[in-house]
Amino acid sequence: MHFSNFATRYQKGSGTVRLMEDLGRATTAKGAICQLGGGNPAHIPEVEAILREAMADLTADTQAFGKMVGEYDAPGGNVAFRETLASLLTEQFGLALSQENIAITNGSQSSFGLLFNSLSGQYADGSFKRILLPLTPEYVGYFDVGLAEQPIFEGRRAEIDLLPQRQFKYRVDFDSLKLNQDHGAVCVSRPTNPTGNVITDGEMEALRAACREQNIPLIVDGAYGLPFPGMIFTPAKPFWDDNTILLLSLSKLGLPGIRTGIVVANPEVIQLIQNNNAINSLAPSRIGPTLLTPLLQRGQLQSICDELVRPYYERKRDYALAVIEEVMADLPIRIHKPEGALFLWLWFENLPVTSETLYQELMAQGVFVLPSRPFYPEVETPWRHQEECIRVNYAAPDESVVMGLTVIAQVVREHFQAAVKRLKETDH
Ligand SMILES: Cc1ncc(COP(=O)(O)O)c(C=O)c1O
Repeated sequence: MHFSNFATRYQKGSGTVRLMEDLGRATTAKGAICQLGGGNPAHIPEVEAILREAMADLTADTQAFGKMVGEYDAPGGNVAFRETLASLLTEQFGLALSQENIAITNGSQSSFGLLFNSLSGQYADGSFKRILLPLTPEYVGYFDVGLAEQPIFEGRRAEIDLLPQRQFKYRVDFDSLKLNQDHGAVCVSRPTNPTGNVITDGEMEALRAACREQNIPLIVDGAYGLPFPGMIFTPAKPFWDDNTILLLSLSKLGLPGIRTGIVVANPEVIQLIQNNNAINSLAPSRIGPTLLTPLLQRGQLQSICDELVRPYYERKRDYALAVIEEVMADLPIRIHKPEGALFLWLWFENLPVTSETLYQELMAQGVFVLPSRPFYPEVETPWRHQEECIRVNYAAPDESVVMGLTVIAQVVREHFQAAVKRLKETDH
């Protein structure tokens, strides 16, 4: 079959495709598999029970059920949900938001292409702008959406603060930020996928001020953040203003299967999303919004986040850290301070092989993780650190976490031991 140039975007290798294929492969594989790779949230029994009950109420309501499955929604998404969410966010942010500030998409991932391509690439004045990622590594799912010939992302290398207990934390290097008119937007995920970092309130405030000064929008990807699902274990303030595009999602609450993303922005951006929905999918799904509206109205969503979701992931994080303490005590490992989301970012300084090789070797043993290089945009200057980390999802069942981390420790140990042996041999 002959495809146009456009199809090459979908024919070449892509970090996002690989991530999702690994997820699929692990669900259909035979034999012992430890799926610590993708971004699947945990099945939290208490949360699933509440969602099941809400769904049962809906299916019992003939009219509501008929509307949910039998009618297209508005192109900007379900109005009742958007109105309810707008009043909750008005309270949170102290700014009057309405449904015109909110659009629904079929998952956050489906809005990145539109947003990034609308805020980068060729402009009418002849300029070419890029999306600035002030703190890389950053979410791999951003990198494959560009339609322009040239790369549309520009990343800034994180500063590394070494912390006690073999931890470290990435920090925005404001001296090398150099935000200017070559940038169409700035984007951060908070908490960050892959590192579990939560960019501090101070850093956010400084980014926000720099963006305002240059009149450049700030995109904040809150897929794991505030106000929901609230997978943040450190003090952090949510914020929004009319120069901010806040992306929320129902996925990490435990609903990735129903594909619901939420964009909170000024009405000009919302109109873009709405038109994109109409053109590319007529309307977004109404299942997520219909299911969640009663929970939002009763204030139940907040208590699900505070009382069930956050404590669950905090326990999972602590468990994974304890396992690492035990099985990697002898290894030169540092762990990014796990402040949110559901990942541990493990740094094996001076790892004798690339993390890509490690990833392949682990996969051959049934342990799925992610290597570090795909979390950096192509154009960023190479840096050894980019090849020394892996991402581990700790939402998997405890047995998988133990087994997976034990295998990782074993494979990494063998590499360090082999390197020491090689060194001794060359000394002789
Ligand atoms: C940082 C980040 N943003 C966005 C998404 C996409 O979420 P959604 O399921 O809403 O498309 C993910 C999914 O893993 C993510 O990790």
